Amino acid sequence: MLQRHIKSFLITILFAMALLPSLTHIYRTQAQDTTADEALIKRGEYLTNIAACLACHTPYKAEYNVPPDQWTPEQLQTIGLHADDALDHDRRFAGGRPFDLGPGGVVVSANITSDEATGLGSWTDAEIEAALRIGVSKDGTRLHGIMPYRNYYTMAQDDIQAIIAYLRTLPAIENKVERTWAPGEGAVPELLPEGELLQSVPTESVKLGEYLVNTIMSCGDCHTPVDPVTFAPVMDKWLAGGQPYEGPWGIVYAANITPHETTGIGKWTPAQIEAVFRSGVRLDGRRLVLMPWQDYVTISAEDLAASIDYLKNGLAAVDNEIPAPAIEDLFLQTVEVPEVAAQTIATDNTPLIVGGIAAVAIVLLLGGVMMMRRQKPATAK
Ligand code: HEC
Ligand code: HEC
Repeated sequence: MLQRHIKSFLITILFAMALLPSLTHIYRTQAQDTTADEALIKRGEYLTNIAACLACHTPYKAEYNVPPDQWTPEQLQTIGLHADDALDHDRRFAGGRPFDLGPGGVVVSANITSDEATGLGSWTDAEIEAALRIGVSKDGTRLHGIMPYRNYYTMAQDDIQAIIAYLRTLPAIENKVERTWAPGEGAVPELLPEGELLQSVPTESVKLGEYLVNTIMSCGDCHTPVDPVTFAPVMDKWLAGGQPYEGPWGIVYAANITPHETTGIGKWTPAQIEAVFRSGVRLDGRRLVLMPWQDYVTISAEDLAASIDYLKNGLAAVDNEIPAPAIEDLFLQTVEVPEVAAQTIATDNTPLIVGGIAAVAIVLLLGGVMMMRRQKPATAK
């Protein structure tokens, strides 16, 4: 009797073991076909977050539509310490966020929703790619350099496709954005022929980190000093910081994020660097001013590890002492670390896990039926 039960139990286990791989396989091949587009769109959505397309191309909430000298202290604090909270998330990607560049005037971001007349609805894929890589608009004019096309030039073809696929899914929002500045002049560069552009995202850790930091997340736009005359980045001070940013907060300087031991982040642990990405906090617990940490909060654990790997091991250490900031009281905020550490978004294994669970459930069901069947003659006896 007992032996019989053990025997049928063993048969069930064997059955389960034989069935499991084939069932997960069936699930996975089906899932792969139907979710190939979804995966591309999801990748595109992820990129538009960490590349800050979302942050730059989303307008402020209505209450911010007054001259900045009329903003309340709370509004100023939001802009300085967690600017994404000032954005109107009901009008994502509708454009019109102003960028006050001081003597450079005010530049306004474009509507990149799928609206036919005022967004990208009537643009071809090639036209969107040209805007991203070489900074030309559909009408052939040159985009303002605040749009980081110089970084996106080296974006992998796969990622360009993912971003375009995602932008196409955005609901159309009608919002006509007028340029408030003269389009740039000078020869527009040519796009390299397809085969000469990077096809897919690098896999080796330091290379992946370099790609994320420089091509996707544009850290250098603030952290690499520029030549005061030509505004070109100073290449031998890559990510070595030092530019002053003045405003209602006082004055802060972009940090030296090269691995220099005393003037950079060479002594920081990976967890301390992670705290900057996840909660915008310095080693002393002060919330960073102007550092757009909210744009990077959703970075995946792998991408974050690779970025840190590049910052610590793939980058030349530059000796560049950064002046101490002078920050108004309103902008001195202490943060409990790690406030948002739990937001780590791991790689998505859902289809595999769901497939596994479904297969196990089916096997258990079949196994149960078999057990019952085998038990019947036994009890009948
Ligand atoms: C730092 C802010 C910033 C970031 C980050 C940014 N953009 Fe832009 N983008 C702008 C501004 C400002 C303009 C308008 C420039 C102009 O009109 O000269 C613009 C223009 C564009 C245009 C041209 C639209 C038109 O009507 O001419 C496209 C397309 C675009 N951005 C897509 C993107 C995508 C996709 C991303 C992310 C991969 C992105 N942008 C990231 C600020 C930004
Ligand atoms: C819009 C400009 C801007 C961008 C883009 C930007 N940063 Fe920053 N970052 C700053 C400023 C300004 C500070 C210093 C703020 C302060 O002292 O309050 C800072 C501070 C930091 C610090 C703290 C270092 C220290 O010594 O305290 C780290 C680390 C850092 N940034 C890393 C990055 C990385 C990595 C990226 C890209 C993923 C990035 N930043 C993108 C402006 C920026």
